[in-house]
Amino acid sequence: PKRVRVHHLREAKQRGERLTMLTAYDAATASIFDAAGIDMLLVGDSIGNTMHGYRTTLPVTVDEIVVAGRAVAGAAQRAFVVADLPFGSYEAGPEQALATAVRIMKETGVSAVKFEGGRRVAAQVRALTEAGIPVVGHLGYTPQSENLLGGPRVQGRGDDAAEQLSEDALAIAEAGAVAVVLEMVPAPVAERVTEILAIPTIGIGAGSACDGQVLVWVDMAGMGDWSPKFAKRFGEVGEALRAAATAYADEVKAGTFPDAAHSFES
Ligand code: KIV
Ligand code: NA
Repeated sequence: PKRVRVHHLREAKQRGERLTMLTAYDAATASIFDAAGIDMLLVGDSIGNTMHGYRTTLPVTVDEIVVAGRAVAGAAQRAFVVADLPFGSYEAGPEQALATAVRIMKETGVSAVKFEGGRRVAAQVRALTEAGIPVVGHLGYTPQSENLLGGPRVQGRGDDAAEQLSEDALAIAEAGAVAVVLEMVPAPVAERVTEILAIPTIGIGAGSACDGQVLVWVDMAGMGDWSPKFAKRFGEVGEALRAAATAYADEVKAGTFPDAAHSFES
């Protein structure tokens, strides 16, 4: 399959072809999503909540992103792989952001990095772009700021907040961002941002007018008991796994597994 490269993102927007993105944190799921034709895989700092049992994304380290990023980039044959810069690894300024991003690019093989914020991180977007590292932005609800935002809440409601969001989107696009994630934004506001940007918007809880969509894979697949309102469960993988584990345990206890077909008789 032909590799998805950075220029395909803008071309997809121009052609009106919607982009698909899912999170992935390991080689096992990355190869499945890649084979399914998902355009972009995000090594999200949601790995903290979904895989490591942290309550928020804040404790996630660069080391954790490096290990996951290497696995996902190694497994993906077609998808464009993006890694999150975790909380505390880019906010101090362009030098810090560049050092973090260079380390991740060198040690993982991902094709781009993503980090949260608008005008306040535009200098970081510009520095990485000038160093040859594609940047994906992330606006609206930004989980690394959840303590300041007061938890997961829709952002950009009302004329003034919508205007601020547009300004942020324009600033990071102007600084060189190749795409921008819009999280928990009213659909009409996301539609407006999508119209004013030449780069694709990737929505999550941001309506259908975005140029693409992203979901956290465990939400998409129905892995946990709970999924947020915006995350449709396209499967019940958690239930399927539980059933498989129960069937395995039942057969071991009954002495029916392993049978001759699954044993070495000599
Ligand atoms: O870490 C993540 O999963 C994300 C998506 C929600 C966009 O940043
Ligand atoms: Na993230």
